Amino acid sequence: MTGVGRQHAKAVRILDGSGAFARPWMRQAFHTVPRQEFVPDTVWVWHAEDDRYHPLSRADDEERWTELVHHPTLPVVTQVDDGRPAPSDGTGELPTSSMSAANAVLTMLAATDPEPGSRVLHIGTGTGYDSALLCERIGGANLVTIEVDRSLAEAARERLHRLGYRPRVVCGDGEFGQPQDAPYDRVLCTASLSRVPYTWITQSAPGGRIVAPWKTTFQPAGLAVLTVDAGRRSASGRFGMPLTFMDLRGQRRPDNPLPRVYSTARWEESRHGTPPSLRTSSTTSTRASPSACGCPASTRPAHRHRTALPPGGWPRTLPGRTSAPGRRSSGAPGIWPGRPSRPTSGGCERAGRKCSTSG
Ligand SMILES: C[S@@+](CC[C@H](N)C(=O)[O-])C[C@H]1O[C@@H](n2cnc3c(N)ncnc32)[C@H](O)[C@@H]1O
Repeated sequence: MTGVGRQHAKAVRILDGSGAFARPWMRQAFHTVPRQEFVPDTVWVWHAEDDRYHPLSRADDEERWTELVHHPTLPVVTQVDDGRPAPSDGTGELPTSSMSAANAVLTMLAATDPEPGSRVLHIGTGTGYDSALLCERIGGANLVTIEVDRSLAEAARERLHRLGYRPRVVCGDGEFGQPQDAPYDRVLCTASLSRVPYTWITQSAPGGRIVAPWKTTFQPAGLAVLTVDAGRRSASGRFGMPLTFMDLRGQRRPDNPLPRVYSTARWEESRHGTPPSLRTSSTTSTRASPSACGCPASTRPAHRHRTALPPGGWPRTLPGRTSAPGRRSSGAPGIWPGRPSRPTSGGCERAGRKCSTSG
């Protein structure tokens, strides 16, 4: 067996052990789509010493590159700083695109649960890997996948075509959807958001499903799985497991207070120095498992997720302002109020440190 074959088999064993192949087609697609074909020769690896992402070239360390690509629970960072690493030393501060961790991809696909022939709108093409998996299920003609970064969109389209997949790959802001190909039975977003764009509801078929990793200022809250009502005026559903991706570009949070509030010092203080009576609050606090957030415990600072709503809480989105070109605010009033957004971090931040996400 080749190195790639060994790594793939190992990943399948681990994913099997965690029940990641929720449907038989997912296992088949995972075997069929060659994961390594979707990863550029240079990927980015976080270094604790300087808290920055350094390039790792396949030519320099093929074994490490292969190991990263086939790791079942870690994303592979494929772009930093929107494609503009520091000219001085070639390192990057923020991960801005990745091939999502295999377990996260499978979780998202299980939640999306498309049927053969379902029409799917996918936002956040990235490498094109999960687009290929979707093509295996629904056929390329039924998939529209949108990527905001032109060079990433072109690279993904080229890879998909080379391997025989022919979805419509669009370069644009996925918050506006793709009205000309609507309605969609499923909308899958593989970038984190705090506001579900209302356009996704109006472009869905009645009873359609929207799947997106939802997070607030304070924590990754969970995977929102929403069902669009018969009149396509609202969508409602549940939060699933904590799952964090890089932010949608238009919903990045420069004003995110998380690093200030959840500094390492405060984390330590809350564990050891705060009276138990003061530790109880309306929020819940859990240690994140490495597989949930993609942070290897050995290389990342301690962190926790705090969630204001318990898992299983009901998010709901209602008619509101629709995104218009030039405006970033979209979606519904209520629990997803629009707020101004300016570009900032592409990764999540915990305990005052940036860290990678599931995707
Ligand atoms: C976590 S990566 C997706 C990875 C993809 N699932 C894969 O495995 O290759 C998120 C992607 O969403 C893209 N993105 C961010 N905001 C977007 C937007 N508004 N519209 C479309 N794509 C967007 C980013 O450029 C990035 O490539």
